[in-house]
Amino acid sequence: MTEATGGAGLDGPMLGRALSIAGLTVDGSSSALSVLAGRFMRLNAHQKRHYEANWAELLNRLERVLDAAASAADVLAEMDPPPESDGLVSAFIRRQSFPVRIAPGAFVPKPGHLVVVSDGRYRQAPRAACRDERYRDAVVAAIDPRVDAVVELGCGWGRNLAAIAARLGRPDLHYVGAEQSHSGRQAAQALMAKPGGGRFTAAAFDFYAPDFSFLEGLKNPVIFSCAAVEQIAFLPPSFLVDLAKRAPGCRLVLFEPFGWQADAALAQATLGRCLTAVRDNAPLSAIAERYRFDLDDAVLNANASVWALCCCYNMNLFSLIRRGEADGLFAIEELVLNQAGSNLFNPYSLAVLRIASDA
Ligand SMILES: C[S@@+](CC[C@H](N)C(=O)[O-])C[C@H]1O[C@@H](n2cnc3c(N)ncnc32)[C@H](O)[C@@H]1O
Repeated sequence: MTEATGGAGLDGPMLGRALSIAGLTVDGSSSALSVLAGRFMRLNAHQKRHYEANWAELLNRLERVLDAAASAADVLAEMDPPPESDGLVSAFIRRQSFPVRIAPGAFVPKPGHLVVVSDGRYRQAPRAACRDERYRDAVVAAIDPRVDAVVELGCGWGRNLAAIAARLGRPDLHYVGAEQSHSGRQAAQALMAKPGGGRFTAAAFDFYAPDFSFLEGLKNPVIFSCAAVEQIAFLPPSFLVDLAKRAPGCRLVLFEPFGWQADAALAQATLGRCLTAVRDNAPLSAIAERYRFDLDDAVLNANASVWALCCCYNMNLFSLIRRGEADGLFAIEELVLNQAGSNLFNPYSLAVLRIASDA
């Protein structure tokens, strides 16, 4: 393999270290690892372009809604409604570019309902009640009187920050939306003009080449991410170390789809499949052609691992959380695997981390 790696970002040594922390020893030259790292970066470049376009389209709609809406809650109700459903699963599942074959097991389609994940199990819920806000509760609970700022990494169009700001009504807080896409930052800026008061800053940010300078001047921020690290197949091991150095003593709340990674055997097998497919330039989503998603709690993690492969989602966050804890970088205050997911095949887990004050 002789391609270039694509410059700044994930490189071969970083990928090798990420794999070793995840418990995988890879045979292969350092140049082969560099090529793989370059391919993961290119897959992420595709994801970044997708969101740039998505949030640009959303910004158009948002501008129309913002003028008419009386409050942030009205804007969010209009722009972020509960998912459409065919009675069984979210309509989003049926819109994938890869085939999603589902064996519903005990579940029978019911109008206005969908199967979601809640606390590690599949359950059928009414559309209107299928949103699980416990990750926002965790962010709000982390905001004690000493906290001066709330930062979201990979904030997209700012829906989480807006909901949290509207709920808190704390004009003394500084909100920071860190996001790679220009359109996402523009949308978040427009949205945050509405709710709860407080200063808002949009910061250009890339998980693969992070510039944390937006943390300068913040005394005690609460930092969180939701469905954003998922976009990064291999988060560089230096990421959490560098972030911890910039925010000693602070809380970091992660709501990301890493529950399946806690099953060591499944994690190893999935990493192997991911690396083999990317090495062979085989489309990751081809895995879905030979897979059936059974709506059975016994295979909830297996389903989630296949979804992660098909979408080229994160493979190593759980191993980095465990390593950071072992190294004394942070303490895990709360860990809830597969807490919630309205996309039942991509359930999110919650980790609340307290960064060491001498990190
Ligand atoms: C599923 S959206 C989630 C957005 C937001 N956190 C939310 O919950 O609405 C994923 C976000 O990750 C961002 N993203 C993708 N790759 C990224 C990267 N390399 N660095 C920073 N953000 C990235 C996308 O632009 C997008 O806004």
